[in-house]
Amino acid sequence: MEFWTVFYAVSFYFATFILISGVVYKIYQYAKTPAPLKVPTMPAPLTSSGVVVRILMEVILFKSLFRSNKWIWLFAMMFHGALWIVLLRHVRYFVVEPGLIIDLIQPFGKYGSFIMLFGLLGLFMRRIFVERIRYISSPSDYLMLILLIAIGISGILVSFVTRTDIIQFKAFMLSVVCFQWQHFQLPEYQIPIDAMLLFHLAAVMLLMIIFPISKLLHAPGIFFSPGRNQIDNSREKRHIAPWAVKKFETQQKGN
Ligand code: HEM
Repeated sequence: MEFWTVFYAVSFYFATFILISGVVYKIYQYAKTPAPLKVPTMPAPLTSSGVVVRILMEVILFKSLFRSNKWIWLFAMMFHGALWIVLLRHVRYFVVEPGLIIDLIQPFGKYGSFIMLFGLLGLFMRRIFVERIRYISSPSDYLMLILLIAIGISGILVSFVTRTDIIQFKAFMLSVVCFQWQHFQLPEYQIPIDAMLLFHLAAVMLLMIIFPISKLLHAPGIFFSPGRNQIDNSREKRHIAPWAVKKFETQQKGN
């Protein structure tokens, strides 16, 4: 067994554990946090199906960002849209027979990576050159963008320049995913020793580890935003935070 094979396999388990347990814990925290006031951003939907449509419009089309700034919207759409396609293209490393859709997506993911990188560079330039944004940016805002850019550039270099042995990489990855550690004794299941690939994977694992404590939590967080997920029904239904229900009922009985 080679050192890097064992090192990357163990690191993958660790990073996956941190990512899943961290995000589950954060979602639990968000779900438990009371929303004491009715604060939907107006104009707000009057029904729960309206709220579902509103959130979908935010998550898929970034509707309020579109209204506020077309340039940021364009870069954000380029990055997030291409990211989905790039990630879907990655499914082939984790599944033996990825299926027709993943097969068809391959060229789009390969070249979509440039759109993703362009979007990220646009968002980075905005932090540097727009004075108002530079003023409110913290080091972590820059660092997350730099990490994503490093992942994008190293991925593109693996894909177009160093041209790693993807068959061998897939054999390694499948052994990790299927817990077939006995494979690691055979040469054809070792992780390919390509510095750019090893860098790409290390940066991805770093991203997975810091995800649950980073601003990237906006991905699950948007679903719990009271400004977006509340219904405008305060005239029809009294809003009481769960922790205040008992007190309210006793007061009502007293009256
Ligand atoms: C465990 C997770 C990941 C693994 C195992 C992985 C592995 C790889 C490999 C082997 C390649 C080279 C593909 C080829 O030569 O055909 C690649 C490319 C790439 N990766 Fe990743 N990667 C992971 C996560 C990510 C993430 C999270 C991002 C983006 C934030 C990303 C962005 C890219 C890009 C932009 C490319 C170049 C385009 C392409 O060939 O798909 N990767 N990745």
